[in-house]
Amino acid sequence: MGEPVTNSVEVVDLVSHFGERQILHQVSLEVRKGEIMVIMGGSGSGKTTLLNHLLGLLSPTSGHVRVLGHDLSRLSPLALQRLRTRTGVAFQSGALFSSMSVGDNIALPLREHTNLDETTIGIMTRLKLEVVSLAGFETLMPAELSGGMIKRAALARAIVMDPELLFCDEPSAGLDPVVASSIDDLILRLRDAMGMSIVVVTHDLDSTFKIADRICVLDKGRVLALDTVEAIRASTDVRIQNLLNRRTEDAEPDVDSYLRRLLGEAASPTPESRLP
Ligand SMILES: Nc1ncnc2c1ncn2[C@@H]1O[C@H](COP(=O)(O)OP(=O)(O)OP(=O)(O)O)[C@@H](O)[C@H]1O
Ligand SMILES: [Mg+2]
Repeated sequence: MGEPVTNSVEVVDLVSHFGERQILHQVSLEVRKGEIMVIMGGSGSGKTTLLNHLLGLLSPTSGHVRVLGHDLSRLSPLALQRLRTRTGVAFQSGALFSSMSVGDNIALPLREHTNLDETTIGIMTRLKLEVVSLAGFETLMPAELSGGMIKRAALARAIVMDPELLFCDEPSAGLDPVVASSIDDLILRLRDAMGMSIVVVTHDLDSTFKIADRICVLDKGRVLALDTVEAIRASTDVRIQNLLNRRTEDAEPDVDSYLRRLLGEAASPTPESRLP
């Protein structure tokens, strides 16, 4: 199957615009096989935008995004679909289907992308629930879960197909420290036990320092630094130090109001009017 791929993700000179506004400026980075790369940066620095490019949800103005050896811009929709079965995504909000039980949410990728029989799907689903310490909760509906449980269920769904590459958007934001720390442990275990390459977007500095092999610091859509935890901690760059000294609580984003403010819109009447 071609030459071995040593980088799970390669981003080269990625430029991205929303309308006239340039959001990402020549962003380059690679995620090595089996490493945890944490993407951090202030609110509005472009973390989610970058993640959306890695997921193939946005098209670059210029530059390249390669995932598991494939240039996303050259893939047919079908090939992109197939590539997605080798990757997992845990969205920030969880994005569970509210009308389905936890078990059915987690089984969904298996039902969609495999021909496994229901007995096997049941076993695999329960195994993944155990991995995220949610054993016995499969018949509950998402509305019956706590915030931390929803994040863990989303993680279970993201890994149910045993992906080579996992993307997590703010996996521990808004959780109490004990639960947040258990999610960090889980992410480390996925790397160590399953050899997954993992990209984590987070505001949480404690979590970053605990799990990261390398950190990519974004600042106003540019890569300010891309280095090991030790090197980032030792950096003398004022902007990096400002980010590191910021209290974690101050960093909780309110993306909706932030975007509205940035875009100069009048306060929108409902949260649903948020940009797509
Ligand atoms: N759909 C969109 N349309 C127009 N501009 C957008 C859109 N999404 C994001 N932006 C702009 O792109 C910039 C980067 O936003 P992005 O959401 O990537 O930041 P972020 O680093 O994820 O911030 P946060 O930590 O607050 O989530 C911001 O200036 C934002 O206003
Ligand atoms: Mg974001």
